[in-house]
Amino acid sequence: MIPSAKARLSADGQRLLLDIDTQPREFAALWLRERAPDAETLDPLTGQRLIEAAELPLDLALESAELSGDALALRFSDGHRVHFPLDELLGANAEDLVAPGRLLWDAHQAKPQHADFAAAIDDDAALLEMLEGLHRDGFVVVSGVPAEEDGMQSLMERVGPLRRTNWGGIADVKSVANAYDLTMTQRGLEPHTDNPYRDPIPGYIWLHCLTNAADGGDSTLADGYRAAQLLRERDPAAFDCLTRVSPAFRYRDETTWLESEGPLIELDSQGRIFRVRYSNRTERVEALPAEELAQYYAARQAFYQLITSDELTLNLKLDPGQMLIMDNYRLLHGRRAFELGGGVRHLRQGYVDRDSTASRRRVLRQQLGNAEEAA
Ligand SMILES: [Fe+2]
Repeated sequence: MIPSAKARLSADGQRLLLDIDTQPREFAALWLRERAPDAETLDPLTGQRLIEAAELPLDLALESAELSGDALALRFSDGHRVHFPLDELLGANAEDLVAPGRLLWDAHQAKPQHADFAAAIDDDAALLEMLEGLHRDGFVVVSGVPAEEDGMQSLMERVGPLRRTNWGGIADVKSVANAYDLTMTQRGLEPHTDNPYRDPIPGYIWLHCLTNAADGGDSTLADGYRAAQLLRERDPAAFDCLTRVSPAFRYRDETTWLESEGPLIELDSQGRIFRVRYSNRTERVEALPAEELAQYYAARQAFYQLITSDELTLNLKLDPGQMLIMDNYRLLHGRRAFELGGGVRHLRQGYVDRDSTASRRRVLRQQLGNAEEAA
């Protein structure tokens, strides 16, 4: 569809103003020049830039801008001309709360997408459907996982490399004596994101259930993007505080000392919610001025109340042979307390990075003919 648009230039020619419906947009001439989608500026195959952008004159201007069909015909003061497709200019909407393609959910709206392990191994379309569900909802339940310790590995290898950590590759999540981490005890675990003390933070958690005969031990999930959205609606100052204050996170044992830092709600460069962090066990906020700390504590409490609320908490008990893949930048996961007297609970867990997972989804989309939606 061709949007109805009007184009005009600022007096110095350094800005293009596009009037589109009720949303005027402004583009810098230098940006349009360095992103010009022509073969002299960008390599047609890779889209990588061929000109040295930093050598463009800072006073570069547009000499004309005319709408021509579904593109803008631009002429720059350095003599360069280009047809810039409007849909490439208008792709991003600054009003979006999160990146496109996400469906935020409350507990009563969540409809877990189910995928079949064998189908996702054998069939690219089934794998793409699984990855689309993961992208949209932040999690997906996969059934039919081989009942072996590393049963999920063959599917991991179809998506991206397994990320090794100081705990190894695919590691146990089960109750042991002398636990070095609270995940290995029978106590419940408050909602959290995994490993904010790493850099980079693991992108996706793959959690495979081998046996789950224990009483209790349900997994809990909450959509951190939805929690952040609700916080912004209900308490904008708290939302703002959690995007500004950047606590540290630390994990230590005899052979490992990991530290990183970042806000509980992280925005991307366009102000959209990009990542949530929440790890009560490992958070170490600085001794900030008392007033700032007071704001942070109140904001953190408001966020905590949301991520632990019935409104947002989805309960899910994995059966043996099932696995859960979770977006660790978005979802908070936890666990109800369980009693080992009721049986054995043995899960295995591994991480896959975010970039390789997104790459797999985009390439599959392109190969299967949905390239226009691949972002
Ligand atoms: Fe965890």
